[in-house]
Parts: sequence; C-alpha cells; structure tokens
Amino acid sequence: MRTDMSDWQHDAASLLAWYVEAGVDLAIDDGPHDRFATPAPAPAAPVASPPPRQHAAAAPMAAAALSPEEAADSARTLAATAESLDALRALLLAFEGCALKATATQLVFGDGDRQARVMLVGEAPGREEDRAGKPFVGRSGQLLNRMLAAIGLERAEVYIANVVPWRPPGNRTPTPQETAICKPFIERQIALVDPDVLVCLGGPSAQTLLAQRDGILRLRGKWFDFTTHKRTIRALATLHPAYLLRQPTHKKLIWRDLRALKAVLDGQG
Ligand code: URA
Repeated sequence: MRTDMSDWQHDAASLLAWYVEAGVDLAIDDGPHDRFATPAPAPAAPVASPPPRQHAAAAPMAAAALSPEEAADSARTLAATAESLDALRALLLAFEGCALKATATQLVFGDGDRQARVMLVGEAPGREEDRAGKPFVGRSGQLLNRMLAAIGLERAEVYIANVVPWRPPGNRTPTPQETAICKPFIERQIALVDPDVLVCLGGPSAQTLLAQRDGILRLRGKWFDFTTHKRTIRALATLHPAYLLRQPTHKKLIWRDLRALKAVLDGQG
C-alpha cells in the first residue's frame, strides 16, 4: 500500500490503471449510467401539434434531433454551399448532425497543400490525430510519410484528409450511418482541393468514395474515375498504412501501387 495516497485515491488510481490496460482511453460522459435500470415511462404524447421543422441547411440541428437520413440530407445541402476549404471547415465546425463530434476532442479537417496534385483520404482520425487536430500524425502517418518519400513526394506537397473527420470513441470503426453523414463533406473537400489524383487509403475509404463493395485486397492497385462537380479525376485504391504496420509482408503490394501513382503523376500511366 502506498503511504502518500488515501485508500480511495489508491482505489481510484488502480481502477483507472485497469481501464487503461483494458484499452479504455476516453470518458464519454460525466456520470455513470445504469444500463440495467428499468426505463422511465415514456412521456405522454403532446397535445399540440409539433412546430414545423426548419430547413436543415438554414439551422443545423443536434444529432439527436435528426434521423441519420435527415442528417445526411442536411450534410449534402450544407456541403454543396461551401465555395472554399475554409467555408467547408466552418460548416463542419458548426455541424451538429454527427454524434461523433460530441466524443471527439476536435475536428480533424485536413492537412497539406490545398493545391496539391495528389489527395490522400483515410478512414477516420485516431487518438494522436484527435489530439493534434491533424490527420495521419501517429504511427500510420509516419509510415505514410515514408511511403510518399519513396516516390519522391514530401508530405507538405500532398493534401491529406479522412472520410470521417471526428475520431470514433476508442478508435472503433465508424458506423455506416456516420460514414453516410460525413460523405458529402469529404466529397466536397475533394472537389475544392481539385487534385489530379485521389488516393483512397484502405477499404472503408475506397468503398465509400469509389462506391465499391469488394475488400481492399481486391480493390488495391486498381484505378477508378472520381467525378466532382468540376471534373472527373483518376482515383487509386491502395492499402492503409495501419494495415501495413500489422502485415509488413504486404509492403511489396503498396510499392507496386506507389510506382503506378508516380507513373501517372509523371504522365506515363
Ligand atoms: N488512420 C486514418 O484512417 N486516418 C488518420 O488520420 C489516422 C489513422
């Protein structure tokens, strides 16, 4: 027993240490919830008819007030109004239609050259990105930087973003609804950067942006068309750096994809 702590402090410290060991790295509410408690009876139905719903674009509503379909509609309407990356960022900062915003530390919008020829899009920020407010700054990001350097690209020369711009709690996979709500924003972000080549990092990015159903091992190395309201650009699906950290033997596959990307950038693909 440590003598510089009272019993309750010691108990609290060991409980926290146990949580951290179990992988809990985020408190999503201030107080505990008894999930086994009998639910309170539902409130009586309102007598007066509800006020007419405001247009979603005019007044973004809280996540709980909108169904996922309404939130995705609202996102589509809002995103289409953004004429610059700064305007899009401001819209996302004010958007309340995605519940992930409530648990994330901050918005992770994008990073790099806003006039880049290459834009890379991952799935969602992790813990390091959530803290830094920048995509791909953790271990995956460091590997991504090395992958880019292998074909002579500096990180500052490309533009990087994610399909979902808020970290899902505990790094869980974003739900299909969360992805659908965020999709119009990343599509608009790609259109505003207007790169020559889009690189989708990993299955969720490729499936969402390229409307594909196959897994990434089938999609990788393939080229697709990506059409924005401005033009059609080429899009390459490739492996996510986090996958390569887990499966280093697959680095030869990414090397092939990177060489194909370089050939296209050099006008030889
Ligand atoms: N993985 C992603 O998909 N995006 C990040 O920003 C970091 C890790």
